Amino acid sequence: MEKAEFIQNYYQQRQQTDSLKWDGLKERYGDGGLLPLWVADMDFSVPSFIQEALKQRIDHGIFGYSLVPETYFSTYQRWQKRHEQTAFQKDWLHFTTGVVQGLYDLINCFTNEGDQVIIQPPVYYPFFDAIRKQNRQLVTSELVETEDGYQMDLADFENKLITNDVKLFVLCSPHNPVGRVWNKAELKEILRLCKENDVLVISDEIHSDLILPGHSFVSAVTVAEELDFLDHLIVCNAPSKTFNLAALLNAHIWLPDKKLQKKYQTWESIHRQTENSLLGQLAGQTAYDQGDEWLQSLLTVIGQNYQLLKKQLAENIPEIKIHDLQGTYLAWLDLRNWLSTVETKQFIQEQAGLAIDYGEWFSPETKGFIRINLATSPDNIESTVKRLIAVNRKIKGGN
Ligand SMILES: Cc1ncc(COP(=O)(O)O)c(C=O)c1O
Repeated sequence: MEKAEFIQNYYQQRQQTDSLKWDGLKERYGDGGLLPLWVADMDFSVPSFIQEALKQRIDHGIFGYSLVPETYFSTYQRWQKRHEQTAFQKDWLHFTTGVVQGLYDLINCFTNEGDQVIIQPPVYYPFFDAIRKQNRQLVTSELVETEDGYQMDLADFENKLITNDVKLFVLCSPHNPVGRVWNKAELKEILRLCKENDVLVISDEIHSDLILPGHSFVSAVTVAEELDFLDHLIVCNAPSKTFNLAALLNAHIWLPDKKLQKKYQTWESIHRQTENSLLGQLAGQTAYDQGDEWLQSLLTVIGQNYQLLKKQLAENIPEIKIHDLQGTYLAWLDLRNWLSTVETKQFIQEQAGLAIDYGEWFSPETKGFIRINLATSPDNIESTVKRLIAVNRKIKGGN
């Protein structure tokens, strides 16, 4: 499907649909009139075949307790195979209502209060909360910006593991917000350090299907298998980011190791009695069955929105640095050569009228950065650029 057809078929107005992104602006930003480019969901409706499957199910009219059909597993396994990800086994798979809920639960289950947990900021901010709010000690190893983009700081990471006696590492792969798709060599290095220091790893792979041309996703499972380290690995993922299904509350936890499975099952039997999401699983299964072509078109739209933003900013406000987008639909922009870090809100929100994610939400070190959600219409990206150019004119003393 061409970009124009995709936009025509799937881009939707979302005001007054109880959308957090659009209708939650006033509460979050104090201004309901901003153009929302923040929280990571998409302004595209789900593929028509998912809508059809859901409608048929809704027409049946009964929404009692449900089972997960066998076909869910086989369809998901085929998707993983077609997309060259990982041949997971059925008994690895546990369901949860969302990856964030899964992270809270896994941290609760596999660490004790006071244990040290390491993450790599700038990173998805619920990682901080899931650790701190459950009284675990936060250890950070910041990613470093190099000529070639963001890299992991392996020496710092190793040092932190040893000096802090770290018990758990939460990896973000692909990485939100910096847009890196970690390659096999990088993953091998970081997991090797975890193995040497007996650190459990949770790999959040929710963005694994959202990979831009020229890059390939490698699951931590593939690397852990090679390192003989699967007994220390847990993966979280879901169909929700790829197919815009977050509110249907269906996400996955993979536990390849029998001992970890047993520990989690015992924990779950005490702390969680959650039912399956009937509609979430139907939507997920249908997506995995038929969603390949739709995903290709979506990635084309995201790639083109990124190029549009990058080109127009380079031509008009070259002081803004836009990081390479390898995966996710989230662009990461460094405004520090353009605005002083205390001016970001004044210019981006109050003058340009944009609701974005602020850099300091992801790390205190990235104040002066912003994250822009590209999963919207090219018109909204054009409008974003125009607003930024108008602000730039004012800053530079034009009119
Ligand atoms: C890395 C990462 N993990 C988890 C989530 C949210 O997952 P869920 O809605 O399943 O809780 C997001 C959403 O942006 C994310 O970027």
